[in-house]
Amino acid sequence: MRHILVTGALGQIGSELVPALRAAYGADRVVATDIRMPPRAAVEQGPFDQLDTTDPQALREIVRRHEVEAVYHLSALLSAVAEEKPQTAWHVNMGSLYEMLELARQHRFAVFFPSSIGAFGPTTPRDRTPQDTIQRPNTMYGVTKAAGELLCDYYAHRFGVDARGLRLPGLISHRAPPGGGTTDYAVHIFHQAIRYRHYTCFLGADTSLDMMYMPDAIRAIMELMAADPGRLKHRNAFNVAAMNFTPARLAAEIRKHIPAFAIDYEVDPLRQAIADSWPRSIDDSAARAEWDWRPRYDIAAMTADMIRELQPRLRLGGPGDAARGRDQDAAR
Ligand code: SER
Repeated sequence: MRHILVTGALGQIGSELVPALRAAYGADRVVATDIRMPPRAAVEQGPFDQLDTTDPQALREIVRRHEVEAVYHLSALLSAVAEEKPQTAWHVNMGSLYEMLELARQHRFAVFFPSSIGAFGPTTPRDRTPQDTIQRPNTMYGVTKAAGELLCDYYAHRFGVDARGLRLPGLISHRAPPGGGTTDYAVHIFHQAIRYRHYTCFLGADTSLDMMYMPDAIRAIMELMAADPGRLKHRNAFNVAAMNFTPARLAAEIRKHIPAFAIDYEVDPLRQAIADSWPRSIDDSAARAEWDWRPRYDIAAMTADMIRELQPRLRLGGPGDAARGRDQDAAR
């Protein structure tokens, strides 16, 4: 039996992609790996191996042992962490991708590579950013994503490796937390809004960025990997879009459910500078034309679903129900 391997499986994307792949292809065929020790639940749901993707020997061994047919290579440092540890970011984001592509060349397996809106830079057109445009990122995260796109393209045309990828926007989800990105505020805000009716945002009120709800991102990844290769002109680094908004706009949307919610701002210069170098919105017409990409969640549908999912897990009461929330908290 040939297997599907997921690296970084305990991260924000992996923790939702692994169950989706298992539902589609069978639990035993999907091997989840992460550098972290898995929680018991993760081990019970299917095969799990601890794996440091910067260890080429360990990568080789795992690929051989499982007879891999496709790898979803999610292990990477996100933008803010990468700016704090640029050397480690290069090592993890680029080193492991290179090794993975080399193994893909030798063992003939497909590779999914998640690129990002971070692969663009300050000289990129910032509104409706085209698929093919100027890419001069000025963050280490962006450097590794732009270089990763090129390396995947190289292995595809030079060696025939079936490498495919998306430029994902900020991802909003309720299962696993994001791990140190610039767009993380759009997840934190929900937790704080439900718990405390208040959030202090590290980006300025008018910072517009592209975002996507996780169910759309998972579907995009799986649809791209299942797409007819004959139709793919780009293969790697497809822009995919679903919504774009500012912190102020998201706060207004949350207020429709939690009227007492208030937001204030304490701008973090590092993350603000990263956000200011990224597109305000991106054009995903290539993905729409080449593999029929269509998002399902806009800001209103995403916000309603996030609150519906998170509310029962967090401490306070129902939407717009601050008084009941306080009572419940006091009763604990
Ligand atoms: N969400 C990512 C980050 O902020 C963007 O790819 O780093």
